[in-house]
Amino acid sequence: MNPTIELLKSHRSIRKFTEQKIPHELLVELIRAGQGAATSSHVQAYSVIHVTKPGNRETLAELAGGQGYVAGASDFLVFCADMKRPTEAAERTGANVVRGMTEQLLVASIDVALMAQNVAIAAESEGLGICYIGGIRNNPAAVSDLLRLPKHVYPVFGMCLGYPAQDPDIKPRLPVEAVLKEDTYCDDREQVEAFDATMRAYYQARKGGNKDANWSQNLTPLFDSKLRAHMRDFLIERGFEMK
Ligand SMILES: Cc1cc2nc3c(=O)[nH]c(=O)nc-3n(C[C@H](O)[C@H](O)[C@H](O)COP(=O)(O)O)c2cc1C
Repeated sequence: MNPTIELLKSHRSIRKFTEQKIPHELLVELIRAGQGAATSSHVQAYSVIHVTKPGNRETLAELAGGQGYVAGASDFLVFCADMKRPTEAAERTGANVVRGMTEQLLVASIDVALMAQNVAIAAESEGLGICYIGGIRNNPAAVSDLLRLPKHVYPVFGMCLGYPAQDPDIKPRLPVEAVLKEDTYCDDREQVEAFDATMRAYYQARKGGNKDANWSQNLTPLFDSKLRAHMRDFLIERGFEMK
């Protein structure tokens, strides 16, 4: 296997970091690597807020549901879907811009996710650890106010970056046969059952906290309640009306 594929397959989220700071030039280089990602129609519909003020880091840690590593990591980035910049640029050329289309929400959300994943891989290639923080969508309006996000920009997720102070096991993924389907969609219940057994064994054996659960059971809290039901109204208020 080539080293890039090895790196991709060795990812683990890191939630404990050393005191060592990431050099600023390296952080900027990671963002440049992020910008190398493919982007829908070259629109580059993202902005990244580098949160440097300790007080704001503490506030974000609380807003994300009390996730201490948001404040403790060397650096914390908030990845935003940004439809302000491209629509205003088009407007300046005389375009009669239509805003609030669902497609624009998708384009910006996909663009920022691809960009962030490039940043993550670049960081890991430098020996850094990362953890995505979707928890900022627990309180997206307060996060937007804190970061002074304008309309047509919304915070999609955060990312902690730093030098790892832990060495967690790699979390298994679904059997590739469940994910890779030939020509047409096919049922994958068998593979899910096999994966549930894999995950139960993983949780029982892993270092740093074991539990008696499987993958399907872990999904229950995601789907048996209206998780982050505020997102629809929040997005509409930000100018992503989903027309
Ligand atoms: C968009 C996104 C949001 C996430 N949000 C959080 C979060 O708020 N807190 C956290 O500890 N981990 C978060 N994670 C990390 C996932 O829990 C983790 O990637 C998943 O359990 C797989 O584990 P691994 O990354 O170690 O392979 C998030 C991951 C993604 C992709």
